[in-house]
Amino acid sequence: MQIGIDQIGFYTPNKYVDMVDLAHARNEDPNKYLIGIGQSQMSVADQTQDAVSMGINATQSYLSQIDREQVGLLVFGTESGVDQSKSASLFVKSALNLPPEVRTFEVKEACFGMTAGVMIARDYVRLHPHHSAIVIGSDLARYGIATAGEVTQGAGSVSLLIKAQPRILTLNDGHSAFSQDINDFWRPNNSATALVDGKYSTQVYLDFFQRTFTDYQKLKNWQTSDFAALIYHLPFTKMGLKANRLAIANQDEATSSRLAANFTAGAQYGRVVGNIYTASLYLSLLSLLENGSLTDNALVGLFSYGSGAMGEFFSGRTVTDYQKMLNPMATQKLLNRRQKLTIPEYEQIFTTALSDPVDDLILVSDEAKGYWYFSGTKNHIRQYRQK
Ligand code: HMG
Repeated sequence: MQIGIDQIGFYTPNKYVDMVDLAHARNEDPNKYLIGIGQSQMSVADQTQDAVSMGINATQSYLSQIDREQVGLLVFGTESGVDQSKSASLFVKSALNLPPEVRTFEVKEACFGMTAGVMIARDYVRLHPHHSAIVIGSDLARYGIATAGEVTQGAGSVSLLIKAQPRILTLNDGHSAFSQDINDFWRPNNSATALVDGKYSTQVYLDFFQRTFTDYQKLKNWQTSDFAALIYHLPFTKMGLKANRLAIANQDEATSSRLAANFTAGAQYGRVVGNIYTASLYLSLLSLLENGSLTDNALVGLFSYGSGAMGEFFSGRTVTDYQKMLNPMATQKLLNRRQKLTIPEYEQIFTTALSDPVDDLILVSDEAKGYWYFSGTKNHIRQYRQK
């Protein structure tokens, strides 16, 4: 039985910062951000968009096309959780009217959280082939104003429907995982922004990629040249580019140009959205599928990395006519609808969004009709509304 991705939903907030503007404001050469980091824009969430509302918005984009009674599992991967106890997924379940029988919870291991959910979902569907599973990754990447990490911020969510006989990507059996207790990036409970040992984190990322990619090739008895595309968790596109360069070193011309071209296709959306932590790898997948040129049954390798740290390499194959399940024009529309912020506007919105509003204050969102948003707390209970 084939199990894999049948639907992909994506949401990013309606505001962004242009990296050239940010570079000027920080007295940096714009090429450092555009080329050295590889980012052109980053999405910015105001106080009305949090991990929950973004996850609802990403999931509702495909909900009318699925049998919601069949959904038996809902997993929410995030490191921007809104509560220390209650799962973000329960708010989603309630907003989207999913069946009460659904098993639902939140998982955390930095940016690896969504991949953990995908693997749980794959095994769940294997045991319950008549059920499907929704896996959401949703995050706000926040380092702080004028920090080295600022240029690698972002906000957004990707939601996947995992089921038997999927119509986008089948997931191959097997994976290679590597974990180590290190401190490259973390966010203490009393901090709204992440702490990071930036240079060290980039070294560990590449080390974990090489280990897991090598182990995976041994496990499957595959070569680099067997892959049509390799995609990566993209904290910023230059990070993935460095990993891809390692992968294609010493490969034949056809392999290296194919993997380089598909890397660029997979990085297109991340370049303008920024880091969305758990969902970044799956935004790369969407970007590759919508902007690359893959044949049917193309082998796609996926590298997931979560600081702290956990790395995993796995793969999938495109399903015949997978293009029919995608809507690149809708993705472009979502990106193009975003309003460009001046740097003072961004700084003000960013700073306000670091803390929750006082209890009972009703927030008003400037999102378009139909989108969900966080409207404040009532008796310290989070409220979500649809425009
Ligand atoms: P920095 O110190 O500002 O930048 O920090 P830099 O001085 O290292 O420069 C960056 C690159 O720009 C360099 O290229 C420069 O040469 C180049 P590289 O050597 O890397 O190839 N450069 C220029 N290029 C063209 N024209 C110019 C120019 N000037 C310089 N004029 C850093 C960069 C990424 C460390 C920082 O932004 C940061 O700390 N970011 C956050 C941490 C991060 O994203 N780490 C990635 C790996 S960890 C991960 O992926 C997990 C994560 O997603 C969290 C999770 O798991 O939950 C973060």
